[in-house]
Amino acid sequence: MSDLPVKIITVDGPAASGKTTIGRMLADKLGFMFFDTGVMYRAVALAAYQAGVNPTDEEAVSALAEKITIDVKPVGAGDDRTSIVLLDGDDVSWAIREPVVDATVSKVSGYARVRAAMVAQQRKVGLRGKVVMIGRDIGTVVLPEADKKIYLEATLEVRARRRFQDLDSRGGDQSLEEVQAGLAARDEADTGRDLSPLRPAKDAFVIDTSELTPEETIRKIEPLLAG
Ligand code: DC
Repeated sequence: MSDLPVKIITVDGPAASGKTTIGRMLADKLGFMFFDTGVMYRAVALAAYQAGVNPTDEEAVSALAEKITIDVKPVGAGDDRTSIVLLDGDDVSWAIREPVVDATVSKVSGYARVRAAMVAQQRKVGLRGKVVMIGRDIGTVVLPEADKKIYLEATLEVRARRRFQDLDSRGGDQSLEEVQAGLAARDEADTGRDLSPLRPAKDAFVIDTSELTPEETIRKIEPLLAG
C-alpha cells in the first residue's frame, strides 16, 4: 500500500467510533505519520483546569489556549498512548485522558479562538503530507483538500462499551452507564455547536463500525485508497 498516490487521509467521527485504532493501522500500513487532533483540545482543557480557569470563561480559556505550547510527538510501537503530548514541556499524555478533561473538553473546543489556534497548527502539520489526521472537522475544515476522507460512526451503545473497556483496563472507576451518558453529552456538544460541528464532509466515505472488527474496517477502506 505504501506506493499509493494518497498523501493526506482524514478520519473523522464521534468519540469512540474507532478513529484512533483505524487511523493508527492505516498510518502504519502506509508509513505515514499519525496525528490525533483531539489531544490538542484535551491539552487546552487540562491547562484550564490546572490554571484554575473556569471552562465556561471563554475569554480566559481562549487567552490561555493562545499562550500555551502544545507539542505532539509520535509514540513507538507497543506504547498504549495515542501520542506523546507535551503541555509547556510537561508530559500530559495520560493526564489528558482523566474524567475532568472528558467533562470539559467539548466546552472549550467550541470556542472560536481556541479552534483558530489549534486548526492553524494542525493545517501546518497536515500540509506536509504523508499524514493520517483524525478528529471531528479534519475533512470539513482543517484539511478540506485531503486526498481521501473517511468518516467512522457506530451506535452509542457500542461506543460506550468500547470506551468503558478501554477505561476499565486502565483502572477507571466509571460505570458503563456513566460512560454512555458522558459520550451522549459529548455527541450533543460536538454535533450541536455552531463552529465546525461534527458531520461527514460531502466527499467522505462513511463507514459504520458497530459490527466490524478493526481488520474488517481496514478491508473496507483499502479499495478506496487505491482509487
Ligand atoms: O477525539 P477526542 O475524544 O480525544 O476529542 C476530544 C474533544 O475535542 C471532543 O469532545 C471534540 C474535540 N475535538 C474537536 O472539536 N475537533 C477535533 N478536530 C478533535 C477533537
